[in-house]
Amino acid sequence: EKGGHEYFMLKEIEEQPEALANTLRGHFESGRIILDEQRISDQDLRDVDKVFVVACGSAYHSGLVAKYAIEHWTRLPVEVELASEFRYRDPVLDRDTLVVAVSQSGETADTLEAVRHAREQKARVLAVCNTNGAQIPRESDAVLYTHAGPEIGVASTKAFLAQIAANYLVGLALAQARGTKYPDEVAREFAELEAMPAAVQKVLSTVEQVRDLGRRIADSKAVLFLGRHVGFPVALEGALKLKELAYMHAEGFAAGELKHGPIALIEDGLPVVVVMPSPKGRAVLHSKLVSNISEIQARGARTIVIAEEGDETVRPFADELIEVPAVPTLLQPLVSTVPLQVLAAEIARTRGYDVDKPRNLAKSVTVE
Ligand code: F6R
Repeated sequence: EKGGHEYFMLKEIEEQPEALANTLRGHFESGRIILDEQRISDQDLRDVDKVFVVACGSAYHSGLVAKYAIEHWTRLPVEVELASEFRYRDPVLDRDTLVVAVSQSGETADTLEAVRHAREQKARVLAVCNTNGAQIPRESDAVLYTHAGPEIGVASTKAFLAQIAANYLVGLALAQARGTKYPDEVAREFAELEAMPAAVQKVLSTVEQVRDLGRRIADSKAVLFLGRHVGFPVALEGALKLKELAYMHAEGFAAGELKHGPIALIEDGLPVVVVMPSPKGRAVLHSKLVSNISEIQARGARTIVIAEEGDETVRPFADELIEVPAVPTLLQPLVSTVPLQVLAAEIARTRGYDVDKPRNLAKSVTVE
């Protein structure tokens, strides 16, 4: 049942192209993005003037990724918040606020309570969920289901990629309702999303290279992850995977923060994973990260660089280079996260841990 794999997580990592394709299917018909259930009017969707994404763990990271796309496409302010923090603040919500609740299980207690709080304040709630008929979608005004299929591994992989895709569809639905994107632009963005399953399939050809790397660095004391722009939440997700599976100290940082503290952690041989943006995207982002890598390498870090194939400028600074296919900047997290999932799983396996059932964790967190 593990499809010939030693652990479910690897099977689920390999199912990601399918999870993405299934999540996108049927959501662009007759030139329009459509949700699964919409119990709010088109007019109300058009009137939205602010978006909150609330979620926990990896689902929260999917929201951090989506913020870049949703703000860019809709020109609406987007705040992404941990559900457990959101509900104990006094967030400013009204009927023109859209709260996007992202949850694989649809039963996470903190996210559910955040949904209830938002609705009491008259905000509209849209659920992004992987479980049909779960409590969070039942209590929401609109639903977009991810179709990653059941996820057995406790650490989220295919559901996470599907959440990013679904959050992007929410962004496009808002852009379409508000008219901040012309129909042909929405169609083009959707077509780019549709090309992602094939791109993720290509990344899977790096699995054996990454597993080999994982075995070689499995006895490290800690691993740091750096990224900028959409690569920053990818770094956070890579660190979370490593903590929960390999019980190792791991932290993700925004690369621009290095000089403000984290660079003091760099010591001889410390593995640092760097998520590179495309050299063909915003040149300034790329060149800043190249200089970050050279700084940490000069201080003895062992640099593990996730970069676009053909990116020659990073080669001299990469002790280990993992190449991912070229995709539009906003879609890069869908490819660059994959090697980080494999890395965490293989380090955990090498250290003798149960990759599918990490200690102290439950698949669905129904208590606060
Ligand atoms: C990490 C992981 C968790 C979940 C979080 C939210 O690998 O799986 O951090 O993402 O517990 O769960 P859902 O999405 O079910 O609300």
